[in-house]
Amino acid sequence: MAQNSPPQPALSWTVVGQGAIGLLAASRFKLAGWPVQLWLRQPAPVDICFNQQPLHFACATAPITAVLIPVKSYAVPAAVQALLPALAADAQLVLSHNGMAATEHILPLLSPAQGLWFLTTTHGALKQGATVHHTGQGQSVLAPLNPAAKNQLLAVQQAMDIALGPVTLTDNILPFLWHKLAINAVINPLTALNNCSNGELAKEQYQPQISQILTEVCQVAAAAGYPLQYAQILEKVQQVIQSTAANFSSMQQDIAHRRRTEIDAINGYIVTQAALYNIDVPYNIELTQQVLQLQHRA
Ligand code: PAF
Repeated sequence: MAQNSPPQPALSWTVVGQGAIGLLAASRFKLAGWPVQLWLRQPAPVDICFNQQPLHFACATAPITAVLIPVKSYAVPAAVQALLPALAADAQLVLSHNGMAATEHILPLLSPAQGLWFLTTTHGALKQGATVHHTGQGQSVLAPLNPAAKNQLLAVQQAMDIALGPVTLTDNILPFLWHKLAINAVINPLTALNNCSNGELAKEQYQPQISQILTEVCQVAAAAGYPLQYAQILEKVQQVIQSTAANFSSMQQDIAHRRRTEIDAINGYIVTQAALYNIDVPYNIELTQQVLQLQHRA
């Protein structure tokens, strides 16, 4: 084999849906020369433009051996149910969404040889019509969630490195999910409510709100057993605001396109966790209510 040849796929990948992150991942697979197909609720081939290149994606066909499922947290159970009949006996499934992973409902659906994973990412992507932009270089953390996933560590990590890398592998995704939750708890509702790009949040006027949200998130995270250092997480939030400055967050996009948001899984999650520990989180309550109002507007 040639010494510097790119890694070749050990698994053939399918991506669920045509959201911005999913199409970013599918495009990166394709541009790396890996075969990739899309699984849509209503099967149809998809043509997009990514990095000024036209890309064509065919519909996925059974058996599906490896699948990235970057759909909203509330849509995961239905997406997995729909996939089940098409999955290979030893398929690998990678969930990726904002908010906490609710995998307790998904694991029992799988057979012992089917692997379940979770990937959390700070990449920014934006879909405008049929054009997909990679609006923020990020990184991802990937965790196997059951023994069948651990049998395929190398193949899945290598693939996710291509699709949404650089990837760090971990055995315990929860600290990383709290970390990402803190980032989303700031960027998503503030960009949705102010109808602005992520980069706008670097302005002085937003700093008091950012600090109030993060103070509450840090209190709740500590009570839940996943302490976050305030200064460190503030720096990370600022980094993501910078690196995804041109991006419109997924929540801003959901509101703009009159779709359901992930507010329940982000600030709403902080609010429900805070109630368990008797912690006051007035700013997260207010943001949750304001986003819900906007989401339910006529
Ligand atoms: O939800 C989003 O938009 C993304 O998670 C992030 C990292 C905030 C970038 O926009």
